[in-house]
Amino acid sequence: MDGGAHLNFYGSMSNDQGHLKIGGVDAVELAETYGTPLFVYDVSLIRERARGFLGTFEKMGVNAQVAYASKAFSSVAMYQLAAQEGLSLDVVSGGELYTALKAGFPAEKIHFHGNNKSPAEIEMAFDAKIGCIVIDNFYEIGLVKSIAESRSQEMHVLLRVTPGIEAHTHDYITTGQEDSKFGFDLKNGQADEAIQQLSEHRYVRVLGLHCHIGSQIFETIAFKFAAEALIQKMIQWKDTYAHTSTVLNLGGGFGIRYTDEDQPLNPSVYVEEMVGIVRKLSEESGYPLPEIWIEPGRSLVGDAGTTLYTVGSNKTVPSVREYLAVDGGMSDNIRPALYGAKYDAVLANKLDEPRSFNYTIAGKCCESGDKLIDRISLPEASPGDILAIFCTGAYGYSMASNYNRLPRPAVVFVEDGKHQLVIRRETYEDLLLNDLPFTMTERGDRIEKA
Ligand SMILES: Cc1ncc(COP(=O)(O)O)c(C=O)c1O
Repeated sequence: MDGGAHLNFYGSMSNDQGHLKIGGVDAVELAETYGTPLFVYDVSLIRERARGFLGTFEKMGVNAQVAYASKAFSSVAMYQLAAQEGLSLDVVSGGELYTALKAGFPAEKIHFHGNNKSPAEIEMAFDAKIGCIVIDNFYEIGLVKSIAESRSQEMHVLLRVTPGIEAHTHDYITTGQEDSKFGFDLKNGQADEAIQQLSEHRYVRVLGLHCHIGSQIFETIAFKFAAEALIQKMIQWKDTYAHTSTVLNLGGGFGIRYTDEDQPLNPSVYVEEMVGIVRKLSEESGYPLPEIWIEPGRSLVGDAGTTLYTVGSNKTVPSVREYLAVDGGMSDNIRPALYGAKYDAVLANKLDEPRSFNYTIAGKCCESGDKLIDRISLPEASPGDILAIFCTGAYGYSMASNYNRLPRPAVVFVEDGKHQLVIRRETYEDLLLNDLPFTMTERGDRIEKA
């Protein structure tokens, strides 16, 4: 490896060869060892974020659960890391639940989300005796009740509600009637109807309320409004239905820094503000302080992830732009094409060279919209250079596809100068695993199987 590592002017660690270092490992060596595109996760950053959330709750003396929203990045190794750090887990499908159980994640700390859980998925949750199901709609109330009754088995649940507050980045809006496919409306009577259908059920125990108000949120005010709305409902239910909630889950959505335009708060600030407002409201009303649960996804793994690509072709459109193409694209990161997400990047092998060229980073998929970064200053690039795009740890690999039959990339964890492959790169053989040969004749007759 290298001698004295130093911070370059973009805040990235580089070594004596001017190479980017991630978790103490030379990124160019990682690209050589594992190939590209390659997702690299700095494990120490994930640990730091997890400890930031959990430690703040502990410092404030509040019972809490920090559930990793694993849709952000789900894999056996990630679940094992989450378990090591004492996190709980939010899963949203049978597939995520299956992976978590295979990883040995403690079932009693798993929370199951989703707006259309199938009967089979709910059975799976009962089989595994998970911590709770977050019930989303009336159909699901019926399913959970009948499955619990048929098995004479208890299940803890939260009710997901839409409090009429939607927050994204710096904007939040409050709406009377929220237009969302998720949850029971808090204001129009749906949530009340839900608690009536479940109160005093023999096997299904409602722990409390859940809401998730948006993503990439940089302010605490929207969480404050959400907490107020949910606590008020809990107080009302105590009076009306003699139901005391013991859990208030305020979801995820804490913003991270993708580019200089983003100015995230320290994770502890969100927690401090949330605890402050819930404590104040419960003291004022005499309501017993509930446990506070949160579900960070992006803020646990987003900035820990970097994608390494190899630079290939380029194309100049005179007076317009210069395209620089890499060996991945929307198949490993759909976010720029899907919702115009922005990223920062460096040439990992030319970290100390001046960024005097302006490029648009194009992917290799057959879509004109397959651009990973619209415009970015980089040193002059040549084929074979390694482009590192930062903050790709959330909703990158987990949303990856085989579009154009591109094999999905490998994923590597790095920490303290060590590296470990945690998801191997797909092969062309993997792409054919589920394909079956065509066995119909031209007339539509089935050929006899040999
Ligand atoms: C219910 C729920 N909880 C948590 C999250 C995680 O959000 P984020 O990754 O922005 O923290 C999401 C994201 O969609 C969600 O839907």
